[in-house]
Amino acid sequence: MSNPAPTPANPKTYRVKSFGCQMNVYDGDRMAELLAEQGITPAPEGEDADLVVLNTCHIREKAAEKVYSDIGRLRREDGSSPLIAVAGCVAQAEGEEIMARAPAVKMVVGPQAYHRLPDMVKAASEGRRMTDTDMPAETKFDALPKRRRSGPTAFLTVQEGCDKFCTYCVVPYTRGAEISRPHADLIEEAKRLVEAGAREITLLGQNVNAWTGENAKGQAVGLDGLIRELAEIPDLARIRYTTSHPNDMTPGLIEAHGDVAKLMPFLHLPVQSGSDRVLKAMNRAHQVEKYLTILEEVRKARPDIALSGDFIVGFPGETDAEFEETLKLVDTVGYAQCFSFKYSPRPGTPAATMGEQVPMPVMDERLKRLQTALNRDQYAFNTASVGKTCEVLVERRGKHPGQWLGKSPWLQSVHFTGDVAVGDVVTVELVEAGPNSIAGALKVPASA
Ligand code: 5AD
Ligand code: SF4
Repeated sequence: MSNPAPTPANPKTYRVKSFGCQMNVYDGDRMAELLAEQGITPAPEGEDADLVVLNTCHIREKAAEKVYSDIGRLRREDGSSPLIAVAGCVAQAEGEEIMARAPAVKMVVGPQAYHRLPDMVKAASEGRRMTDTDMPAETKFDALPKRRRSGPTAFLTVQEGCDKFCTYCVVPYTRGAEISRPHADLIEEAKRLVEAGAREITLLGQNVNAWTGENAKGQAVGLDGLIRELAEIPDLARIRYTTSHPNDMTPGLIEAHGDVAKLMPFLHLPVQSGSDRVLKAMNRAHQVEKYLTILEEVRKARPDIALSGDFIVGFPGETDAEFEETLKLVDTVGYAQCFSFKYSPRPGTPAATMGEQVPMPVMDERLKRLQTALNRDQYAFNTASVGKTCEVLVERRGKHPGQWLGKSPWLQSVHFTGDVAVGDVVTVELVEAGPNSIAGALKVPASA
């Protein structure tokens, strides 16, 4: 397979485009750090890059098709292309096909192999094409450069992969088996992020609450133990974690929501469906009742907790009555915010070949009804927050002069004006609710 268009040897500038989940954002940042270590600099906004990394997502939609159109769009007027690397879950799942179909792609690198990107770039500069989708038992994290940069909020991957095998989900195949990063490495990375300016760290994992490790005293600890230790880092103001599985919601973690002040009152706990039959067909290994009991316990520990979740409508065989059960569950919980999706058959997953695929118009209708209910609840949650005074972490400037944007403890976007700086934790009264954000009034000057 030859590519008639010339490509730049020894790239000087890069751009990393990440799609999909927050872990891809984390991986994208780490790839950028790796490239920067090679002396390659970020391409200025609006300018072509010599090297483009497409960090892809395979969880829904026709993700592979999107990759091909992105590759096409990178072609320049003179027919040349930058050096293109396809990374992420599409690379893992469909690397061979991408190499065969898209000559402009010089590198295909899976989520567990991207520490090898510098070697691949070198090979690509010499005109060789490389695919690396190994899932080595040893961790890529050891091979990555130390963290040196951070904004006020940072992601920290603590756990990767999934052993749950929900029947609709491609993650166990693209991200591999569950692994937990060692406790000491995580404490070190968190401290570096904080030194570099992070005030809030979100711990990431496909099943983040399945994380286990051994602390410095040799004791086995779960995610709650890690959170408690991170809370000791003086300049770290806030800790969050995502995404959790109901079956790994331990009593210790629930308790931490009650007594670790830096752990924000927000829990993203996907349930996917309100029907026990559908949950069983999805291999979720929990029922609605159990999910509600967990939420009740979390609310007992932290009464103001904001709840979030994921839903799939139109799983194969889902009946109208079963979908109504999902709406009923939504009404029962009263979520602060949620993600909801139409079922998308993923190649190689058990659900993709189940009979009774739900027709698209039915899925469209169900998604619309579900999102109407979820939007109603989100607005209600925001409205109920009006009048509260809370801390807001300032993340960036807003569109209007003097305006700042930040997050409330409950992960609501808050905008306000005042004399503050990015990274400050300030006290704000929430004064007016919108569907997606809240207007606030600054109460006291910056505390940091
Ligand atoms: N179709 C639709 N949604 C899916 N998700 C995962 N796989 C699929 C699929 N095949 C959703 C689930 C999961 C979220 C990350 O994406 O709701 O929690
Ligand atoms: Fe996918 Fe289920 Fe694992 Fe989540 S728990 S990553 S939905 S298989």
